[in-house]
Amino acid sequence: MNRTPDTTPLAVIGLGAMGARMARRLIDAGQRVTVYDRTPERAAPLVEAGAAAAPTPRDAAAGADVVISMVTDDAASRAVWDDPARGALGGLRPGAIAIESSTVTPARIAALASAVGERRATLLDAPVAGSRPQAEAGALIHLVGGPAAAFEAARPILGLMGQRALHVGPSGSGAAYKLAVNALFAIQVAAFAEVIGLLEGAGLDRAQGIERLAGLPITSPAVAGVAQLIAAERFEPQFPIALVAKDLRYARDTLEADGRDAPLSEAAAAIYRRACHRGLGGLNIAGVARLFAPG
Ligand SMILES: NC(=O)c1ccc[n+]([C@@H]2O[C@H](COP(=O)([O-])OP(=O)(O)OC[C@H]3O[C@@H](n4cnc5c(N)ncnc54)[C@H](OP(=O)(O)O)[C@@H]3O)[C@@H](O)[C@H]2O)c1
Repeated sequence: MNRTPDTTPLAVIGLGAMGARMARRLIDAGQRVTVYDRTPERAAPLVEAGAAAAPTPRDAAAGADVVISMVTDDAASRAVWDDPARGALGGLRPGAIAIESSTVTPARIAALASAVGERRATLLDAPVAGSRPQAEAGALIHLVGGPAAAFEAARPILGLMGQRALHVGPSGSGAAYKLAVNALFAIQVAAFAEVIGLLEGAGLDRAQGIERLAGLPITSPAVAGVAQLIAAERFEPQFPIALVAKDLRYARDTLEADGRDAPLSEAAAAIYRRACHRGLGGLNIAGVARLFAPG
């Protein structure tokens, strides 16, 4: 590894499927990276690759100019940033850039941005489009909300993890876009999984029916990709159903909190929730097709 002493010190908090791969990209690019995970063993392979491990998010943030969090949801984001004794907010340096890359609600981003501002630091919400393979290949797309100057300052770091960083608007816009993207995707996948039954019910070959349907212009390219996985019954997790259910819930809650109707997000959330109750939460989004097998 060709680490240079003048690189910006970075922290990555949350070393799950996505965070570990993102941290690895930064380490392999020669950056100075301190990592933290609630489950300390998750840091070991990254320490072996050249990272330092911190015992708390606060310690990780204390040594960094850019602090990236990649954890499950709003609750996890609160746990790693806000905890009075151990949270990253307590360690944040004035002038630092905090990046919340987890898929969380715009409401969570508003609260975090305010707390980060009190530390005289700046928050970017930068959730990602793309899944595990894209994280591994540095091919994520960051949807970034927050001040333009902080976006420009963070862009080279984001560029080590992703192929494109889009500055989509002020604080909270990245979170809003991400929920819009995921809700749109997940609703379509659920719809596709449901209508396969019409073809099967007509006595058509399932795999051929899926392929034909996926090849029609009515099917979006993203859903056509998932259709291949449904046809091949390949459900190993990329975008796990449990996270899909969470994102739809957040989309619905955010729309409803704004006084808007969200019947499709609600219906799709119920479908993915049902999949979780059936023990399918760890499967890739394509695994929702299992729900629609004839009973
Ligand atoms: N997977 C995808 O395809 C994908 C794609 C785009 C965006 N995302 C989003 O990226 C984020 C991370 O996803 P992932 O797939 O990496 O999830 P994951 O593999 O389940 O990892 C979740 C991470 O959050 C940590 N965490 C959860 N609850 C916590 C708490 N209360 N306190 C501290 N840490 C906590 C976990 O710590 P432990 O190690 O201790 O469990 C782990 O580091 C999510 O917001 C997800 O929606 C995922």
